[in-house]
Amino acid sequence: MQINNKSNNKFKIIHLKTTISTNMDCIELGKEGKRNIVVVSDIQTKGKGRLNRLWYSNYGGLYFSMLLDIKDIKVEQINFMASLSIVDTLNNYSTKDFGTVGGQKPKVFGIVGRQKPKVFGIKFPNDIIVKNNHSTDYKKISGILGEINLNYGFVVVGIGININNTIDAEIKDIATSLKEIEGKEFNKQEILNVFINNFNKYKELTEKEILNKYKEYSATIGEKVKIITPNNEIIGIVQDIDFNGLYLKTDDNVIKNISVGDCIHLRK
Ligand code: BTN
Repeated sequence: MQINNKSNNKFKIIHLKTTISTNMDCIELGKEGKRNIVVVSDIQTKGKGRLNRLWYSNYGGLYFSMLLDIKDIKVEQINFMASLSIVDTLNNYSTKDFGTVGGQKPKVFGIVGRQKPKVFGIKFPNDIIVKNNHSTDYKKISGILGEINLNYGFVVVGIGININNTIDAEIKDIATSLKEIEGKEFNKQEILNVFINNFNKYKELTEKEILNKYKEYSATIGEKVKIITPNNEIIGIVQDIDFNGLYLKTDDNVIKNISVGDCIHLRK
């Protein structure tokens, strides 16, 4: 295993060729008292996804985890900041713009009426998705797995972004990569640096600014969704999102606040 130590702004970067999971590496380092480290690996043999799923981690993707001290962050905002940093990073590299169709703005992510329709959006709680042209279909390009350890006082934010990797046949219908969208390969080290700069930028913003920006990129507000929690399934139209989760209006006109679960967008 080759380790290259570099430092980017406030983070020390540890680059591995292979590992089981960069989240697991950060958890070990966190228990040893280390902080402000980013572990990045070319592949992961058992990358962890949300809800105990496996995260496909073949060569070409960007797989990294940030180890942060709990005292330096606002835990409830961290997923929002990470999601926005990914979207900004991808937008930096994407040349795609949906433009206008027949004088009408196509349906785009987030709030209506902004100048340039964005390709990337955030699906609650923190999947980064890309619109499949003008249709309502979307594919996932990136996911975030946050893990908190209150005993040792640290948070690990694990991020997987499909950059140059080939998407496994099993998930081809629901996942895509930057290479697939743009038709060329990208420099992953540079993309990681851009991400870290964006993340540091979001650290300086107020709660309100982060929330407003998140709403601008939300692909879930206004959508009809099904939320699957361990004990329950609930369907409704998403009215709003804040740090406590999303607010769903059910068929019987009741507004429900939901903070966790798997969110599936349904056709209206
Ligand atoms: C999701 O299910 O959407 C979350 C995926 C998170 C994957 C990343 S890859 C780097 C880090 N290490 C892991 O084991 N998981 C996260």
